[in-house]
Amino acid sequence: MPMHLPQFETGHCPESGSASEAAITDAVTILRRGGLVAFPTETVYGLGADAENPEALKRLYAVKGRPGYHPVIVHLASAEQLQDWAREIPEAAWQLAKAFWPGPLTLILPRSSRVPDAVTGGQDTVGLRVPAHPLAQKLLQAFGGGIAAPSANRFGKLSPTTAPHVRDDLGTDVDLILDGGSCPVGVESTIVAFRDGQPVILRPGMITESQIAAVLGQSNQNSAEADTAVIRAPGTLASHYAPGTPLILLPPQDLIPVIQQKLAESPAPIGVLARRERPALLPEAPKMVWMVADTAPEGYARALYASLRALDTKGLSVILVEALPDSGEWAAVRDRLKRAAYRA
Ligand code: TXA
Ligand code: MG
Repeated sequence: MPMHLPQFETGHCPESGSASEAAITDAVTILRRGGLVAFPTETVYGLGADAENPEALKRLYAVKGRPGYHPVIVHLASAEQLQDWAREIPEAAWQLAKAFWPGPLTLILPRSSRVPDAVTGGQDTVGLRVPAHPLAQKLLQAFGGGIAAPSANRFGKLSPTTAPHVRDDLGTDVDLILDGGSCPVGVESTIVAFRDGQPVILRPGMITESQIAAVLGQSNQNSAEADTAVIRAPGTLASHYAPGTPLILLPPQDLIPVIQQKLAESPAPIGVLARRERPALLPEAPKMVWMVADTAPEGYARALYASLRALDTKGLSVILVEALPDSGEWAAVRDRLKRAAYRA
């Protein structure tokens, strides 16, 4: 079933392009000239370039700081464009596109001749997505072609979910930022590849394994674990989406004892991200910054990156995060936190 997205706020950031028609026209002009436009999607902000302009893609990779062999997703205005950009599309892909597009789902499919090497890192497949955010839709419809867009952050950092996040990360390296307020989903799309016509989830997102299985009339899915060596997805690198401050994931019952231990051993303040209020026995700021996260997965996901960014600016010695339930609806945020917690 397609996701129900909350109401969009049309936020306004004075230093970036607003959501007006004029801003869309500017964005299209910039893309046609080979420039870079950051735009909101329902998941996170994307850093967009004309998917058919190899020079623009070269600049996109340079600004992103991403190695050239890592593929980027091509965003399209509608599912009707799927056959212009992919070939040998399995029935399951059509079914998923019909059920979830526009929305936070990316399909990995054999590429058509329209897709340049620069988009796919030389692989024979391409990642395609039709985003639901009204500004992304306006931009894609006005542009007409495909917009290649990774998340609008430097490689390995947290994805941006507001226009100021993009500005903080990319500064003047981006030609225009379309400001659509806060992204309502908050974590990156679910990525699905196909093996012999069967779906394989390469990156969990807020469209869950069981929602995908339900659309396809299946009871369970293949696991992506064994497949990531064959199909490359940098989102599946162990360390990705990381804040600068060390982050430790703790089972709920260990949270309070570890907080007490850290407070005793470190003079620097510590950060906590928990799904409950601060118990009165624990100190307040400046010794500790306690953030209360949502108890539901949708709300948790929406706020996750902004919360981690905020905690990351506070000079904390460590961020302690209360671990999440094992169920499928939490898979996307569990995945992002696991990567954020990773230290080589
Ligand atoms: O929600 C999203 O997907 C956001 C918004 C902007 O659409 N985009 C995003 O892009 O997260 P990026 O580049 O940060 O992550 C895209 C992921 C990467 O892990 C990449 O490896 C994978 O998609 N990917 C893209 N094309 C692929 C392909 N042909 N085969 C396997 N993985 C692919
Ligand atoms: Mg990314």
